[in-house]
Amino acid sequence: MTELLPPRTQEYKARAREVAEKYARPVAAELDRTGEYPWSVIQALKDYDLMGIWIPKEYGGHGAGVLDMCVVVEELSRACGGIGVAYAVNALGSFPIVLGGTEEQKQKYLPAVAKGEKLIAFGLSEKWSGSDAGSLIATAQKDGDSYVINGEKKWNTNGGVASLYTVYAATDRSRGTRGISAFIVEKGTPGFEIGKREDTMGIRCVPVHELHFKNCRVPAENLLGGKEGTGFANAMMTLDRARPGVAAQAVGLAQGALEWAIRYTSERQQFGQSVMSFQAIQFMLADMAIQIEAARQLVYTAARAIDAGLPNVSKLAAMAKVMATDTAMRVTTDAVQLFGGYGYCRDYPIEKYMRDAKITQIYEGTNQIQRVVIARALTREADQ
Ligand code: CAA
Repeated sequence: MTELLPPRTQEYKARAREVAEKYARPVAAELDRTGEYPWSVIQALKDYDLMGIWIPKEYGGHGAGVLDMCVVVEELSRACGGIGVAYAVNALGSFPIVLGGTEEQKQKYLPAVAKGEKLIAFGLSEKWSGSDAGSLIATAQKDGDSYVINGEKKWNTNGGVASLYTVYAATDRSRGTRGISAFIVEKGTPGFEIGKREDTMGIRCVPVHELHFKNCRVPAENLLGGKEGTGFANAMMTLDRARPGVAAQAVGLAQGALEWAIRYTSERQQFGQSVMSFQAIQFMLADMAIQIEAARQLVYTAARAIDAGLPNVSKLAAMAKVMATDTAMRVTTDAVQLFGGYGYCRDYPIEKYMRDAKITQIYEGTNQIQRVVIARALTREADQ
């Protein structure tokens, strides 16, 4: 029910839908095939003043909320899941600075992200450190007025196309998660190389890369917040705010797949009537719609709770991610089923929705990790 959203959010949603329909949908299949980045859509998002809307006004953004970011991601993903994440990763990459940057860091880096002049990515995961984010092994050693970063990052979405990277590394291994610090690293810094591109199942227009750091020297003023040891909490708070964005991507994908399924089943004739006229098909479509609407409302509620500054939002953000992404996987799989053999072929756009949906259950914390977050919150609440 778009009408129930605040007027400003409705306006963002309408504008994002226009970009999605005019610019994203026409190129989605082609970019999926070629793996090329959706630069034309990024340009359109800039022209429609939709990039970096979540960045505070004093740093060139709109001061928009997570809810506003979510509706933009949802609309883009309804047309193309890859384009949805190409946009959303900028929130994941810049929230660390919004949440924990010094005044100088915010002034230096956020305006270009707000305008879409620079894309920004998030470097937390490593080859041997995924769900257990605290076990990362990249290091950053203080040396005079700089830090020297060594190590590798994995699964960096927007890797290579981003100009800026928030990178997490251990400044003091002996302190565990309290010895992890965050750094802002500019592309082109000597010793920072973009590594291999992953050959992904879905979201194929978005590059996912390894990042390699070999004696990469960054100025000490790029230590996020100017304080060592605050990186892990910063990453967790960032993920709390970014996970509703993944959930919104999933809602958009599920919605887009449902619309294709409705169109196809009403046109496809079998046994002398439209496939849609069979109650078995109607019930499938109805179940898909119920699940999508329930997921959407949970995503909006989580986003609203974050925007309202409520404490302990991790649980709601995790719930929204699980609910919406599991829904997207079910709905897109059912949509393929409704297309029959045609659904399994690339002639129709529907199999792409299923491929794009799968990653939403995995990135920004697998749905198993979300359940860990939820269960820990439940235990804490029970102890109070
Ligand atoms: N907000 C603030 N602080 C938090 C926090 C939160 N949500 N969660 C934990 N912390 C703090 C704790 O308070 C604790 O601080 P103290 O030491 O001061 O007490 C510290 O962080 C350690 O907390 P835990 O003991 O709970 O940490 P843990 O090691 O058990 O890990 C976890 C918890 C939830 C499993 C975490 O590791 C996690 O979220 N893992 C998944 C990581 C993830 O989502 N990775 C995806 C990266 S992005 C990506 O996929 C790539 C891309 O480009 C899209």
